[in-house]
Amino acid sequence: MTDNIRVLIPEEKIRERIKELAEQISKDYEGKSVHLVSILKGSVFFACDLAKRITVPVTMDFMSVSSYGDEKVSSGRVRIVKDLDETIQDKDVLIVEDIIDSGRTLAYLKDLLGSRMPKSMNICTLLDKPERRVVDVDVKYIGFEIPDEFVVGYGLDYQQRYRNLPFIGVV
Ligand code: IMP
Ligand code: MG
Repeated sequence: MTDNIRVLIPEEKIRERIKELAEQISKDYEGKSVHLVSILKGSVFFACDLAKRITVPVTMDFMSVSSYGDEKVSSGRVRIVKDLDETIQDKDVLIVEDIIDSGRTLAYLKDLLGSRMPKSMNICTLLDKPERRVVDVDVKYIGFEIPDEFVVGYGLDYQQRYRNLPFIGVV
């Protein structure tokens, strides 16, 4: 199953970086609770591991948007497939994403969720491909900056496969 996949970020490095991010988030949200909005399906592995390491009270909700279909390139369109279960009004929201590529998905989500009156809203992404940015988005927490290569594993898929790889790899 892992044929032709080159390891880009090994499991241990992901674990260490998540620990650091969680420490930073716990410090920044001291005295508050943080409402994690995990974007399905890619960010689920990351959101769960991050949540376990955060020391302030955590609540979680999930949202599914589609921008890519099964293609490797962005269509530029974003569609809500599953909305949040709970209101985010007056909550300190932290959007958790797997990867920022063009930035279109997050720019759209930031506008949409921002209009629902959260107390605050920040973004945390495991991976960032800065070279690919089309729309500018302000991201507070970034796990790793990576080169412009299509990656899979640790939640990320290619045609719905490879999400369960424990590392980030290049197809
Ligand atoms: P954006 O709207 O172009 O920033 O796209 C973000 C979404 O595209 C992510 O949430 C992923 O679902 C998907 N995506 C972008 N790059 C990759 C990649 O290298 N591997 C897997 N999915 C990707
Ligand atoms: Mg995604």
